[in-house]
Amino acid sequence: MAANSGTADEDVAARFAEEERKSLLRFITCGSVDDGKSTLIGRLLYESKTIFEDHWRTLTRDSARVGTRQGQIDFALLVDGLAAEREQGITIDVAYRFFSTHRRKFIVADTPGHEQYTRNMVTGASGADLAVVLIDARKGVLVQTRRHSFLVSLLGIRHVVLAVNKMDLVDFDEQRFNAIVDDYRAFATRIGLGDVTAIPLVAVDGDNIVERSTRMPWYQGPTLIQCLEQIDVESDVAHRPLRMPVQWVNRPNAEFRGFAGSIASGIARVGDAVRVLPSGRTTRIHRIVTADGDLQEASAGRAVTLTLEDEVDVSRGDVIAATDAAPESATQFQATIIWMHEEPLLPARSYLLKIGSVTANATMMPIRHRINVNTLEKLAAETLELNDIGVCELQVDRPVVFEPYADSRTLGGFILIDRMTFNTVGAGLLSFALRRAQNLHWQALDVTKPLRAALKGQKPAVLWLTGLSGAGKSTIANLVEKRLAAEGRHTYLLDGDNVRHGLNKDLGFTEQDRVENIRRVSEVARLMVDAGLIVLVSFISPFRAERGAARSLFGEGEFLEVFVDTSLAEAERRDVKGLYGKARRGELKNFTGIDSPYEVPEKPELRIDTQQVSAEQAADLIVEQMRRRGLLSAP
Ligand code: ADX
Repeated sequence: MAANSGTADEDVAARFAEEERKSLLRFITCGSVDDGKSTLIGRLLYESKTIFEDHWRTLTRDSARVGTRQGQIDFALLVDGLAAEREQGITIDVAYRFFSTHRRKFIVADTPGHEQYTRNMVTGASGADLAVVLIDARKGVLVQTRRHSFLVSLLGIRHVVLAVNKMDLVDFDEQRFNAIVDDYRAFATRIGLGDVTAIPLVAVDGDNIVERSTRMPWYQGPTLIQCLEQIDVESDVAHRPLRMPVQWVNRPNAEFRGFAGSIASGIARVGDAVRVLPSGRTTRIHRIVTADGDLQEASAGRAVTLTLEDEVDVSRGDVIAATDAAPESATQFQATIIWMHEEPLLPARSYLLKIGSVTANATMMPIRHRINVNTLEKLAAETLELNDIGVCELQVDRPVVFEPYADSRTLGGFILIDRMTFNTVGAGLLSFALRRAQNLHWQALDVTKPLRAALKGQKPAVLWLTGLSGAGKSTIANLVEKRLAAEGRHTYLLDGDNVRHGLNKDLGFTEQDRVENIRRVSEVARLMVDAGLIVLVSFISPFRAERGAARSLFGEGEFLEVFVDTSLAEAERRDVKGLYGKARRGELKNFTGIDSPYEVPEKPELRIDTQQVSAEQAADLIVEQMRRRGLLSAP
């Protein structure tokens, strides 16, 4: 406590210093308003005396006016005040609240309980060490209790407080309490939640929150606050081997080269042997530098800059780890994915994957199954919709240092980002690396792409023609190829209709199939460019994401996107293959432009308006563009 004799400033400083020393517990509350969740959080804030005076006055006034507790203070109003903010258009996905007691500081994440809010709960739970699972003593363990607990377990929360609330409404009945706890423990064991502390409560009156309840003398365990203050969460990560993902390399001058980051687990000590991953080089910790001076050791949660004894190559995204228990790196994984976006996950689509400070391109592979979060059943699934949870395999384009999420949230948790909009679309938990990937290595070949290109006397490239069916892509591509052949170029034309007769004959026209169609043809084009060819790709390729993913497979200047632009009305008027007619008559489903989208290219290298120029002129424009970009000069 601050000394009374000090000035106000000193008091504040002393108070800050005291807060600074306390350990921090992050927890989440699971349950719905009906279970008394808001009341419980309000009560905790009140008991910890962090309610400001003015807030207090409003509360007393509002409780008299609108409270549901007839003159008593309605603690739910403390928390539900946020509803007003929501009405003002502020989106609050997860409300975080701070309070502290003499022993500890707390951050509580409060998220809505319904199934449509799974993503909010996942966000709140991902940083939490403990979950308070709230149960209404009259109702017992509900489907939603199971769903919340499953998510809690999935997200690696190891400590659960089972808060059996509204005990007054079941006459403080010990048998009722025990029956609920037994029921819950049986389920918790099934989903791997080991540490469960059950407490009977009356949140609205404060029973067993801070003070032991005189109305339930049969209960001998800790009160809620005692439990939150005493639970040991620090040793969970401190006792694991050292891992520090490098956030940035600090090199202010030639003398100093430090690697900054937060210690994710274990303890770093000066002189300890460490291994840098993925390179695998070993060295020792030379110094542990912090803003407050050098340390001899630093443990999990601490932000530090390490310097190493030897000059080893370390870059952002690398991991500094204990030599005797270093994590692996891999490129293919199995993971559990929680989908957080209105647009469904499409297997074969490429997303950006961010894990620690590494960002990689990730391609999803077919979904193994979706999980019914209420029953834990495994269901067949082709995509994942908003709030779905599924098990999926995925591949990244560079080795990622990882640990199973169950062992490390830092090295096992990732987010998926849409390549075009940069929205976070999913969260993922790595389970394990796929062994088939561990046994695959890049084979070094002596005849290389430059050599093959030189033999052909040309610069390999891709001309990617995209546009509606009937826009004229194939006609134009054919003319361009003829011109290039006449100049002695080595080319190949990949045409949608043709490739769909062979390599892609298993694919139809759903979104998933089109994504896979373009993924495969992009890979084929890449092989052909590697072989030294000029490749013409003529596919509708309706989605920006896949055209972007195709582009990312090629070098700077190698990929030319040509938008063959024809209005839908014009393509329909031409209807060379009679397909628009069929689509309009409902005989053909998912037809591009009719009931399947076409996303117009935003920055194509070339746009051709086929209502303004003929196919011959279009071919001229493309060849001219290639020449201008130096693609037709010698390599
Ligand atoms: S893409 O959308 O997956 O890139 P792709 O270029 O391979 O399509 O194939 C398009 C060709 O398939 C069209 O030119 C047309 O001849 C034929 N086709 C058959 N059904 C459809 C459909 N539902 N939508 C678009 N094209 C279709």
